[in-house]
This record gives sequence, C-alpha cells and structure tokens, in this order.
Amino acid sequence: MSYFRDNIEQMSGYVPGFQPENQDVVKLNTNENPYQPSSMVCKAIAQIEPENLRRYPDPTGRAFREVAAQVNGVAPENIVCCNGGDDLLKTAIISFCDKDRPLAYPVPTYTLYPVLAKMQGCAVIEVPFDNEFNLPAKLISAGAPLTILCNPNAPSGSFINIDEIASLANELKGVLLVDEAYADFAEDNCARLVEKFDNLIILRSMSKGYSLAGMRFGYGIAQASLIDGLSKVLDSYPVDVVSIAAATAAIKDQGYFKTNVEKIKKERARVTKALQDLNFAVQSSSSNFILAGCKNCQADDIYGKLADKDIYVRYFNAAGLKDKLRITIGTKEQNDKLLAELQKILAKQG
Ligand SMILES: Cc1ncc(COP(=O)(O)O)c(C=O)c1O
Repeated sequence: MSYFRDNIEQMSGYVPGFQPENQDVVKLNTNENPYQPSSMVCKAIAQIEPENLRRYPDPTGRAFREVAAQVNGVAPENIVCCNGGDDLLKTAIISFCDKDRPLAYPVPTYTLYPVLAKMQGCAVIEVPFDNEFNLPAKLISAGAPLTILCNPNAPSGSFINIDEIASLANELKGVLLVDEAYADFAEDNCARLVEKFDNLIILRSMSKGYSLAGMRFGYGIAQASLIDGLSKVLDSYPVDVVSIAAATAAIKDQGYFKTNVEKIKKERARVTKALQDLNFAVQSSSSNFILAGCKNCQADDIYGKLADKDIYVRYFNAAGLKDKLRITIGTKEQNDKLLAELQKILAKQG
C-alpha cells in the first residue's frame, strides 16, 4: 500500500545532470557558468550579521526586486523572487493547471515541465518543433490555460524572435510563460512585452549568467496582477537572507556579468566551428550550451568515453535527442580539453 497520491506513486522524478564529487573534472553537463560569481557576492554574504539570520527575511526580496526592475526596464511590482527558476515553474503550474486545465509546450524542451505537470495531475499537450525549431502554430489551437515556451530553448539553444512571441501572447487565451533561464546569452529577450500583455510571465534564473546555481535564486517578470496571484502560491518566504544578499550583489555588478557573458559567447562560436570541423551537426546556439549531432558516431558511446576521461557532457535518451550531445560552454581550457579528447576518440574510430 502506498501513502502517496496515485500520480505521485506512478511518476518518475526529474533526473538532474550528474554532479561528480571530484571537483577536478571538466564539467560541461549542467549549463553552469564556468566563471566565479562576482567578488561582490562573497563580500555581501560576509556582511550578513547573526541578527539578520535570527529574523525572517524580507518576504518579497525588495532589495533585489529594485535592482532587477532597473536592469529590465520595469517597476519593482513587476518582479517576483523565487527559490530558483524551477520554483516559478512549479508555482505557475499549481496556479493555472489541474486535471481539467492542461499545460502545453513545444518539444523537445526542458524535461522538468512534464514532471511538474504529473505532480499537479494535469495533462500535457506536447507540440513538436520542426527540424529548425520554429515556433509551432499548433500551440495556439491547443488552447491550454498555461503554455510554456523556453527561449532560448533547451536543449537546442534555438531562439524564437520576440515579435513572434508577442503574436503568440496576443493570440493565446491563457497564460504564456516564457522560460528565459538562458536569455543572458541571447540576442534579445521579452522584458519589453510585459507592459503590453496581461497574460505574459517571464522566468529568469540567477544560475546561469550570474554564476549562482548553488544559491538557488530566480525571478519572474509580469504585470502586477499576475505577480500578486503567483505570490499567493509561492512560499511565504520564497528567498532567504543569504540568497537575497548574494543575488542583489550579483545583479548590481553588471560590468562583471557582461564580461563573462561575452567570453562565453566568444567560446560558443569557437567551439561550434571546431565541432563542425569534427563532423558534428551543430546549429547556432543563443545559449551557454550547444547541441551537437553525431553524423558518423554514436552519441551515447561518445558520452561514455568522455566520462571515462572525467569530461562530462549531457546525453538524453529521448525522442529526437538520441544522436546528440548537449555540451555546456566552459572556459577556453575546458573546451580545449573536450575538443582534444573528441578528436582522439573519433580518430580511433577511423
Ligand atoms: C530551461 C530551464 N529553465 C529553468 C531552469 C531553472 O533554473 P534554476 O532553478 O537553477 O534557476 C533551468 C535549469 O537548468 C533550465 O534549464
């Protein structure tokens, strides 16, 4: 006999990328930023007094919201803080979906969406992308109360232009959540659409561009009516004193952030070209990872051989992805190690 609700009993949990205990590896499997967070982050954490920890945190993370509002050209009431972007996804699905209210999204995409839907007992409408990852028109006819569009998409790194997303928001009857966890590495983002659409929520993460994956801090941008509704569903204190201090210091240091993003974009172009020269099929990416398709090799075999050398990339045993590897862009040194090892593996295969 199980104590769990049927859907929890029957579902499989989300499987995160492998986190090796040994730090001395080339870790290109979970889209972390290869650079340290801003030095301002550790300074801000060091300044926290025991008294700040004794008390509950500011329930809305006001200090962070003020800076994030400035950075995104919106007002603080358009920002809601959460315990990592994943927390906002769960909150949105609880807020808008149930057994009669499905969730729609294009596939392949972030594999957490169906897991969260199963927890909530809501059906999913998965609309396939075409080979070029264009926006599928069927998302509109799906008529779901909540549609999630990951842009740039994971794991493809593909990017849908903002005018097309504006048309989608305009035509959908339900809420559109644009998952911009990787927008820091893209050419554009949806922030300017928030004032126009009362059905649009943008998700942002501090894990990627700002190097704070270990801190767990994300935020949403939307009109105040949506922010107020989501806040009813979030924890009463969704972000803690330490993470508010860290995330605020990180987002204030725009100079350091932009320098790292530019370094990653430069390496992204170099690694893309080098992988193409090694005969991988690589589409251009707007993210901090690339999806490399094996033309003359087996992706799972390459994944295993790289792991044997302590080089970790991501392999998804899923439809449309079985012949591909998702590779996070690391430092120049990390990328060089990956490319050299790939060259050796492929040379041995002849
Ligand atoms: C597409 C996508 N959305 C959201 C997230 C959530 O990020 P976090 O919870 O670390 O802010 C991730 C994390 O990898 C992601 O890949």
